[in-house]
Amino acid sequence: LDMSTFLTVRDLERVARAELPPSTLGYFKSGAESQTTLRANRRAFRKWAIDYRVMVDVSRVDTRIRLLGRDVATPILIAPMAYHCLAHPDGELASARAAAKSGAPYVATTLATKPLEEIATAFDAANTAGATPRWFQLYVNKDRGITRSIIERADAAGYEALVVTVDVPVMGRRLSDLRNAFTLPPGMTAANLADAVQGAKNAYHHAYATGRHDPSLTWRDIASFREITRMPILLKGIVRGDDALRAIDAGASGVVVSNHGGRQLDNAIASLDALPRVLDAVASRQAAGFDVLVDGGIRWGTDIFKALALGARAVMVGRPILWGLTVGGEAGVVRVLQILQNELTTSMALAGCPDIASITRDLLVPA
Ligand code: FNR
Repeated sequence: LDMSTFLTVRDLERVARAELPPSTLGYFKSGAESQTTLRANRRAFRKWAIDYRVMVDVSRVDTRIRLLGRDVATPILIAPMAYHCLAHPDGELASARAAAKSGAPYVATTLATKPLEEIATAFDAANTAGATPRWFQLYVNKDRGITRSIIERADAAGYEALVVTVDVPVMGRRLSDLRNAFTLPPGMTAANLADAVQGAKNAYHHAYATGRHDPSLTWRDIASFREITRMPILLKGIVRGDDALRAIDAGASGVVVSNHGGRQLDNAIASLDALPRVLDAVASRQAAGFDVLVDGGIRWGTDIFKALALGARAVMVGRPILWGLTVGGEAGVVRVLQILQNELTTSMALAGCPDIASITRDLLVPA
């Protein structure tokens, strides 16, 4: 399959939807309950128009940014998403290689279908210049012994940051998963937790993994994680300014403004709508080097442009990665990243922005 025939994320999504079994497709695409937040995440981007500037020398367009104090090639990160083997047999090994080859930072999930150590090895082998970071996303397990051991393994495997997901005290109600009694097929497991459920049937793993999120997680726990690991900590799933300030107080190095792709609290605020409030709160504290990222509904380069113009340091992309992985494995993910990167540089050139710093707030007006 020639990936160059796919020109937009939507092109890959169309093919992936036709290929996936219904229960997997339902798991990938769905939001919680009425899916109001899922739709709001997209609508939030359409509320802005780009008030572009002309006659700027854009013969070179540079997308480099500083992220947690290091230079990276692009503001496009791969969001942590569970069970990549549902999309392609190579699973996280394929998506990790694609990220490294594309210079896109990769966030491995606790709920990967490959062990975090194998993902690290696959990523590093493709990260030949060593220029691209990989991070690890933590779901806090009720059994804090398991939580500690996962953090220690991520540390030992050389992940550069710990992204603690804070918007899943309980699972959101995703109706397609409930109706389909979604579970992992035989032979597929939540590999990082495999030791914890030794002897259990494979089909047990999804129910187990999602039943283990700790609803008692609070700000105090972040300080205890800081004692376990050298990794800087980001909190993913923040939408309020006061919570962003609490994140700073808890010693976090950044936040990801996110509502989990509309999969958790239905009728939650759209993530792009939440971004300015979080940035305002953080600015009031002048927390030097505190990174604010955003995810949810990013499907076009101009979406990334808008998020950066509002002040995000970088963005995470979720479902489009799964569409690429389904259609073409590693090559499909490379293609998705290429499309978004091309669209971003094109929009920058057309808006008069030769670098990321020149994507300023005044370039957006209400649509
Ligand atoms: C997710 N997301 C997620 N987040 C996380 O912190 N850990 C995880 O394991 C998962 N798993 C997961 C699975 C699937 C199938 C999806 C679609 C999403 C949320 C993800 O990181 C991100 O916040 C959203 O996907 C971003 O929204 P878009 O880009 O998918 O609209």
